[in-house]
Amino acid sequence: MNGDNDGKKLRAAIVGGSGYTGGELLRIALEHPLIKLEAVTSRGQKRRSVTKAHPNLRGATDLRFVEPGELVQRGEEKKFDLIFLATPHGKSMELVEEFIPLTEVLVDLSGDFRLRGAEEYEQWYGKRHTRPDLLDKFVYGMPELYRSQLREARLIASPGCTATSAIIPLKPLAESFGKDIVDVVVDAKVGSSAGGASPNAGSHHPERRDVVRSYAPCGHRHTAEMEQELGISVSFSPHAVEMVRGILATIHLSLDREYEEKEIWSIYRDSYGEEPFVRFVKERKGLYRYPEPKLLRGTNFFEIGFEKDQRTGRLVIMAALDNLVKGAAGQAVQAANLAFGLEEKTGLGRVGLHPA
Ligand SMILES: NC(=O)c1ccc[n+]([C@@H]2O[C@H](COP(=O)([O-])OP(=O)(O)OC[C@H]3O[C@@H](n4cnc5c(N)ncnc54)[C@H](OP(=O)(O)O)[C@@H]3O)[C@@H](O)[C@H]2O)c1
Repeated sequence: MNGDNDGKKLRAAIVGGSGYTGGELLRIALEHPLIKLEAVTSRGQKRRSVTKAHPNLRGATDLRFVEPGELVQRGEEKKFDLIFLATPHGKSMELVEEFIPLTEVLVDLSGDFRLRGAEEYEQWYGKRHTRPDLLDKFVYGMPELYRSQLREARLIASPGCTATSAIIPLKPLAESFGKDIVDVVVDAKVGSSAGGASPNAGSHHPERRDVVRSYAPCGHRHTAEMEQELGISVSFSPHAVEMVRGILATIHLSLDREYEEKEIWSIYRDSYGEEPFVRFVKERKGLYRYPEPKLLRGTNFFEIGFEKDQRTGRLVIMAALDNLVKGAAGQAVQAANLAFGLEEKTGLGRVGLHPA
């Protein structure tokens, strides 16, 4: 644990606060009873109110953006407890040099420190890793897998959003079925906010509206995270769909042995029965009898449902989350709570909306 938190507020800062995950970090931090947000950066919007970028926060804060250099200056005067880097991959590994010395705990939301090998990074991200010396110092920020390590962590690599959608439901099954797993296919439907706040050709309204676009049927870089954490081979194919927030992953698992649904229940109950944010949704009837990302908007919950295809034996798993919360900012705060010895759910108890 990083110092005993005796109810004092953690002095926190966000680098990259004008983006979508930065906005969610702001929203969560402002509601968090033990975080005091002291500085939020934007290079392009310095001195503007953060509510210009995040109008949903009107009335909740009078913070203004500062340049990253100003945050460095403040951190040199008095060290922060917690800094989040909500910056693009490739940038975070440049920024850590400056920001690590300024804080007790640093959480990076980019992909720069999730993979354990510099070669893997180069293979999947197409560029050389400039800080391979730090790769084994970061803890992968998924509390369901690394809770005890996160309690001691100073550097945290927050997982990717689609990686989270596959790793949480598959980890207990990968451990239990091991060599009996013949094939795993993860087909994910992904909301547009996963692409960040900067527009591109694919996010232009006429090109995005009404599409179900397969954008990386093979070779998506989050596959590397999935395989690293699961220790099995995974075929991952994401699709861009019209929703703004949310991921629904439909996972097809083929096994080389007999099993019954009650065995799956028992594996999941043993692994996740006590998890504060993992829920199981598997009802006989009703519109929402399986996980539905729309109901999880704005929440840190992660829902899992499953069904055995009695005809083929295939196990079909449905997993849903909000990419910006459990897939990014919420998971980052959950990990930070652990690092400071706080109750893991602090600031993250919000439930979803219905109708949403
Ligand atoms: N969107 C998701 O669902 C999601 C989920 C999990 C993880 N992530 C990861 O989280 C990170 C942020 O994603 P996002 O969706 O929030 O992206 P975004 O909306 O594009 O925001 C990126 C932020 O980074 C800042 N920035 C860019 N270059 C910078 C630099 N050199 N120095 C300092 N600040 C810089 C930008 O601020 P200024 O230009 O104003 O300075 C902006 O605020 C990415 O690495 C992404 O892969 C995203």
